[in-house]
Amino acid sequence: MNSLLRGIAVGVVVWVCGCTSHSGSTSSESGTSSSSSSSTATIIVGTSPYWSSTPALKDLASFPIGMEVSAANDTRSIFVLKDQLPTINKHFNSLVAGVIMKMRYLHPAEKTYYYTDADALADYAAQHAMILHGHTLIWHWDSEIPAWMKNYTGDWESMLNDHVTQICTHFAGRVTSWDVVNEAIDETTTSGFRESMFYNHVGKKYIENAYIAARAADPNAVLYYNEFGMESSAQKLAILLAMLDDFKARSIPLDGVGFQMHTSLYSPKVDTIKAAFKAVADRGFKIRISEMDMQSNIGHASALDLSMANSQHDRYKEIIKAYLEAVPPAQRAGITFWGLVDGESWLNYLDPSYKDWPLLFNDDYSPKPAFYGVAEALAGY
Ligand code: XIL
Repeated sequence: MNSLLRGIAVGVVVWVCGCTSHSGSTSSESGTSSSSSSSTATIIVGTSPYWSSTPALKDLASFPIGMEVSAANDTRSIFVLKDQLPTINKHFNSLVAGVIMKMRYLHPAEKTYYYTDADALADYAAQHAMILHGHTLIWHWDSEIPAWMKNYTGDWESMLNDHVTQICTHFAGRVTSWDVVNEAIDETTTSGFRESMFYNHVGKKYIENAYIAARAADPNAVLYYNEFGMESSAQKLAILLAMLDDFKARSIPLDGVGFQMHTSLYSPKVDTIKAAFKAVADRGFKIRISEMDMQSNIGHASALDLSMANSQHDRYKEIIKAYLEAVPPAQRAGITFWGLVDGESWLNYLDPSYKDWPLLFNDDYSPKPAFYGVAEALAGY
């Protein structure tokens, strides 16, 4: 295919010392990009031969298109950084909280639940005809486990059941679906399960308990197991599939699997990703791509360049296509991206010496070529 048909004739807008110069062709939106930046920055704006103006992603899919957001009074909160709202509202019809619906936040003390911020997010979603996906009831990540829980000396099984029950009951009718358990598999352990606090106190049973409690508390919520890396580790995928088969055989109420898809520009091969989707889909489960982003800077590049941006377009496109090809329509439960603009990606916060451009939008909210990779795949181009 020639470069125009690949749909990423890209406008490069270079800002130097506040002067703006353009090279290449720019999309209608790139021309209106902010030029107030005082530092040197390169913004690569995507275009596509298929649209004359930027299409709304949510209009291109028959399943939810989601965005991870900050809320409460965080600097990136949708209630604080209002600049981002037109882009979020235009493209997404599903929201998920990056932080404020995790264990530490919702359950700060043994007898205390804190819902104010998550309620505000649920209200925002409802007012904008968006669904809210709940993330996440049980997760091992040290800083997201409340201190009281770490020191808990009572009956862990009933304490965790109560945690799940209280939260699911509170949000019933307003949270459409939950990541009930997040990241419980560890292919490096003898059992195949992560030796988290939950596992160490309750055993593997904590996982099924959580689904049973969630279903009882909110029978209408769609219940997911969310995990990373099943598409890159055959061992991890095998453990997942065994768990799915076991849950199915014993009627544990699990409806679907979230593939986080914190992927890389370089691996794994798209066929491997597709085979992982298919293996789960063949078992009848719903599938979400739940936290998609794309680590791209394995060298020490200091800026996104055209070649990397174009490769992101191609890789986003082929992964979304793989999802559409492997997962039958009734089992496609949506695609959620883990962050709006590159500069705010969690990958840029993990290590201050590392920089990446893993998302669909530039920091000025202009769509990157990656955006058009997703749009083209969704539209069937
Ligand atoms: C991350 C958030 O993006 C960060 O803001 C937070 O500090 C740590 O968690 N897998 C998950 C998500 O399931 O909850 C993580 O989100 C990213 C990895």
